[in-house]
Amino acid sequence: MCQNAEMEKATAIWMDGEMVPWDGAQVPFLTHALHYGTAVFEGIRAYQTPDGTAIFRLREHIERLGRSARAYGIPWDYDVETIMEACRRVLRENGLEAGYIRPLVFYETGAIGLNPAAARVRTGIAAWEWGAYLGEEGIRNGIRVRISSWRRISGESFIPTAKGSGQYLNSVLAKQEAVATGYDEALMLNADGNVSEGSGENLFLVRDGVVFTPPIAAGILDGITRASVIDLLRSEGIEVREANLTRGDLYGADELFLTGTAAEVTPIREVDDRAIGTGKPGPITRQAQSLYSDAVSGKLESWRHWLDFV
Ligand SMILES: Cc1ncc(COP(=O)(O)O)c(C=O)c1O
Repeated sequence: MCQNAEMEKATAIWMDGEMVPWDGAQVPFLTHALHYGTAVFEGIRAYQTPDGTAIFRLREHIERLGRSARAYGIPWDYDVETIMEACRRVLRENGLEAGYIRPLVFYETGAIGLNPAAARVRTGIAAWEWGAYLGEEGIRNGIRVRISSWRRISGESFIPTAKGSGQYLNSVLAKQEAVATGYDEALMLNADGNVSEGSGENLFLVRDGVVFTPPIAAGILDGITRASVIDLLRSEGIEVREANLTRGDLYGADELFLTGTAAEVTPIREVDDRAIGTGKPGPITRQAQSLYSDAVSGKLESWRHWLDFV
């Protein structure tokens, strides 16, 4: 699927307990979140398994949604179980056997100044079919990335570990610049000049058989795919270390890959027009891809607790 393809509409969206027709799930123009980005969200995937549809690490995603809401002071009353069940319901009622799930908690109307306290807090959950975020060809042969001229938001002005909607303007700038200049994706450095992550993915580097990934302190999102890939690789006896990485480390890497719910495990074949390793996805990247795809599709008994059956 092309990165810019139109999204596949499903039929209904969960809005605070009601299933609303897809095109009818609308918000008023004076929605606070529309003006100031005062919302938090999640991105979750469900996969087909031999035992039916399963949502990957659903609880961890909903717990992160709650932490994002708390981080930005959004009074969110739902408990984790209710939202988990709502995600399953959205898949069921849309007849989706696999797909992407997007919960959003946002300030709607009731306040239009910067203090959102008087605005109503609303929660919606949509789901739809979504193929490889960085393209099937990218998954197979790797993508071309550039170092963004934009720096990743820092903890001094935002909360990098939260998925706050407004903070994604930073990712949008980096992504637009990358695509406009002929690349598939952007990698951002942080304010210290160390590597942080992609516009919507975490980064891994392989050198001499050891896997490295920037630490949370580098201002990254604490990715659930990142954590899963670390566990999967370590369980195969591969050493994984969190370490600050420089732009030069990227150029000299044997292998590089991105991880994310949308991007899954996507190899990087070039950074700033320099080939990485052999210019083809390397063996550890391939292993991470196959472990992850086996885990999400229920083929690995020891990681079945990551699956939430619909
Ligand atoms: C900025 C950013 N980094 C990393 C990720 C990957 O996180 P996860 O693996 O939890 O989807 C995402 C996607 O949610 C993201 O938006």
